[in-house]
Amino acid sequence: MKTTLTRSVKKAAGFILEAELVAFPTETVYGLGANLFSEQALKKIFLAKGRPADNPLIAHIFDLLQLDALVDRVPRAAERFIEAFFPGPLTLVLPKTQKVPTLATAGLDTLGVRMPRHPIASAFLKACGIPLAAPSANLSGRPSPTSWQAVREDMEGHISCILKGGQTEVGLESTVVDCTYRVPLILRAGATTLEQLRAVVSTTRLAGTSRSEPPKSPGLKYRHYSPRAMVVLVNQLEEAVATKDAAYIGMNAPPKANVFGKQHICSSVKEYARSLFSFFRNCDGAGIRVIYCQTVPPTSLGLALMDRLERASHP
Ligand code: TXA
Ligand code: MG
Repeated sequence: MKTTLTRSVKKAAGFILEAELVAFPTETVYGLGANLFSEQALKKIFLAKGRPADNPLIAHIFDLLQLDALVDRVPRAAERFIEAFFPGPLTLVLPKTQKVPTLATAGLDTLGVRMPRHPIASAFLKACGIPLAAPSANLSGRPSPTSWQAVREDMEGHISCILKGGQTEVGLESTVVDCTYRVPLILRAGATTLEQLRAVVSTTRLAGTSRSEPPKSPGLKYRHYSPRAMVVLVNQLEEAVATKDAAYIGMNAPPKANVFGKQHICSSVKEYARSLFSFFRNCDGAGIRVIYCQTVPPTSLGLALMDRLERASHP
């Protein structure tokens, strides 16, 4: 299959209307979009990514009016999150309508919905006119793509089109919050932080912190975000052993920093989050065997960053 690279949202939307797949930029990571109401298109997502069929997809919208066709009701907490954080890096899990194919939700009766704030994403969604199901545009298990070049690495020849944009701003996937439970539960940490969510609905908490809770997101049981190199978390800088086939990323320079095959010292947690997945991919491209990653305090965006680092370090 030929993969068309374009900057035209109109051209890209044309493929969606023919039940084809289009990768597109969002503020978090690149998504792999398909018509949410087309079973034929949805099947292509699972095939192209090698994604397990029991891992549900997120619906992407550009206008709140699109919610009617997707969800049966919007609980009060969700209403408040929508008001405070849409459009943005937040996915809300809500009770789905009959109209949403079960293939999209992997048989669940809930649907994750997100309204990206990236201008190209909204223009593209608008040009499509229908909600798009869109997982991250990587092969299953690989780090999510934060540039169109990373999408091409994984998807060239397997999807119809890549809508080109720049490097993504956040670099980590959206926060996923289940709003169908008695209290809002964070299933996946992201750039909309626990602290921000709590300021709007104070009962919000991280899933998995109480026994009486429903199970976490199905996708979280799978290996994720992993480069081919081994990932080792570093609490004390001395734990990072400098060699040519090792790499280092963190906020502070380790001893013998210039001996590492690759190294990236980040100026902020935000920059660390933004660079992490592309750093992982660069390391794989350079044949690095071990990547040392400095840990950060698990608060605010640091919670999401630590979540991804921990997953990457437990293959
Ligand atoms: O930032 C993002 O969310 C990106 C961009 C493209 O929007 N998308 C993304 O999608 O990361 P994906 O498919 O790679 O991750 C979706 C996560 C998975 O862990 C999945 O299990 C969970 O969200 N999820 C989706 N629908 C769900 C539902 N109904 N209930 C619980 N978890 C759900
Ligand atoms: Mg993903």
